[in-house]
Amino acid sequence: MEIVKVRNYDEMSEKACDLIVEKVNKLDNPVLGLATGSTPEGMYQQMIDSYQKNKVSFTKTTTFNLDEYVGLAGNNPNSYRFYMNEKLFKHIDLPDNRAFLPTGDSDDLQKECRDYETLMYKAEYIDVQVLGLGLNGHIGFNEPGTAFDSRTHIVDLDETTRKANARFFDSLNDVPERAITMGIETIMESKKILLLVSGEKKAEAVYRLVYGETSEEFPASILQKHENVILIADEGALSKL
Ligand code: GLP
Repeated sequence: MEIVKVRNYDEMSEKACDLIVEKVNKLDNPVLGLATGSTPEGMYQQMIDSYQKNKVSFTKTTTFNLDEYVGLAGNNPNSYRFYMNEKLFKHIDLPDNRAFLPTGDSDDLQKECRDYETLMYKAEYIDVQVLGLGLNGHIGFNEPGTAFDSRTHIVDLDETTRKANARFFDSLNDVPERAITMGIETIMESKKILLLVSGEKKAEAVYRLVYGETSEEFPASILQKHENVILIADEGALSKL
């Protein structure tokens, strides 16, 4: 794992954006894997700036998001579809029909999981996957205990994850109990992974990611086995290494 140490959140966002823009400009049909949460927001803003300055165009790009809450429609402000529309999609020239997220309010969730895998397969999988890191080591919504050979599936969210994400909702009760997420094996098939981590509160998780044993109890530890991972982290996040 290559570790890129940056000073702060803004530098992390810029660095991540530069790598994405470079890839999008280089490939004929780039496929990006995208994440939600607070961590990539700055990177998305940088991507919008790059687009507005004509440094990049996304007309040939396809995107797949990692996850979505079960039960939330795309027009629900707490859905990840809504988040992506607001923070990125509506500001750039990415075609609507190439911006994929799992459908959280699907009537047939198992079929939705299978269909999502088929779409990724047809797109020949992800060139660059952006990842954030949950405090308990989750990637996407793969909580501790998720099998390393999992594909896109439905998960019961950990109480700790629901609490960590409650800040986006009116109350903890409103945080869905389940989500659809790409599986660990799905994520590991990405050709390149950009893992973004900022802030001292993630320092312990970063330590386990880099030095901990590879164990399903700490999902992100599997990334030690991926050949092309870049961890972009700030001083706070790296303070325990
Ligand atoms: C959320 C998302 C993850 C994200 C993580 C960290 O639950 N499902 O994809 O990486 O938690 O979130 P944050 O960046 O807000 O710390």
